[in-house]
Amino acid sequence: MSSSAEQESRSPGSANNPGSEEKRPQKRKRQEEDDEQQERWKVQKTVEGHCSKVAAHYNELQECGLAVRNQSHIVYLRNFNNWIKSVLIGEYLEQVKQKNRHSISVLDLGCGKGGDLLKWKKGQINKLVCVDITAISVEQCIQRYGDMKNRCYSNKHLFAAEFVRADCTKELLAEKYPDIMFDICSSQFVYHYSFETLQQADTMLKNACDRLRPGGYFIGTTPNAYELVKRLEASETN
Ligand SMILES: C[S@@+](CC[C@H](N)C(=O)[O-])C[C@H]1O[C@@H](n2cnc3c(N)ncnc32)[C@H](O)[C@@H]1O
Repeated sequence: MSSSAEQESRSPGSANNPGSEEKRPQKRKRQEEDDEQQERWKVQKTVEGHCSKVAAHYNELQECGLAVRNQSHIVYLRNFNNWIKSVLIGEYLEQVKQKNRHSISVLDLGCGKGGDLLKWKKGQINKLVCVDITAISVEQCIQRYGDMKNRCYSNKHLFAAEFVRADCTKELLAEKYPDIMFDICSSQFVYHYSFETLQQADTMLKNACDRLRPGGYFIGTTPNAYELVKRLEASETN
C-alpha cells in the first residue's frame, strides 16, 4: 500500500539520515505510548474477541481538528489514503451515473468519524447509510454531517443520511434498512478487522452484498499484510 508515503514518514529516523539523532526522543516517546496502549488492551476483557478491543481503541481516539491532525507523524500516510479513497469513490460513482441512476444510495461500512462524508457530498449522492462498531465515532459522524448540513445553503443539495452503530462482523444489517438497495457499498480500511473467524468474515461479506443492487459495486481498501510484515522485519526497531 502507501510505499512513498510510508518512506517519507519513516526516513528522518533512519540510520543513514543525519537528522536521526534529534528524532530519537520522539521515537522513544512514541514507543512508550505504544507500550502503554498494549498494557491497557491486555487488561480489557477478551471474551468478546478482537472487536471490543477495536471499538475501545477507536473510542479513545480524540477528534483533534485539522491543525493537530496535520502535525501527526502519519500525516503523509493519511493524505495518501485519502487520495486513494477519493479516486476510488469518484471512479465508481461515475460508473453508477453512466447507468443513468438518478438517485444514488451508498452504504459506508465502517464509516468511522465520517472521513468520507465530503467525498459523498462532492459526488452528489442522494442517500448515505453509515455503520460503525464504535459509538463515539458514530456520534462524531452524526455531528460532522449536522455541521455540513448547517453550512449548506438552502438551494444546495445534501444527501439524506442514517447512522447505525453495529458490529458488522456479527450482526446482519439488512433488517435495519429493509427498504433500501445500495448502488455502492464502500468499506475503507475496515475489512482487515473481520478475519478473526471465518463466520465473522462471512457476515461482513453478507453485509456488503445483501442490499447491493444488481450491477452495484463494492469498493474497499485494506492494508497489505505481507508488505506490513516485510517492513516490520526490515525495520531497525523490529
Ligand atoms: C481505519 S478506520 C476507517 C474509517 C473510515 N472508513 C475512513 O476511511 O475514514 C476503521 C473503522 O472500522 C471500524 N470497524 C472495525 N471493526 C468493525 C466492525 N466489526 N464493525 C463495524 N465497524 C468496524 C472502526 O470502528 C473504525 O471506525
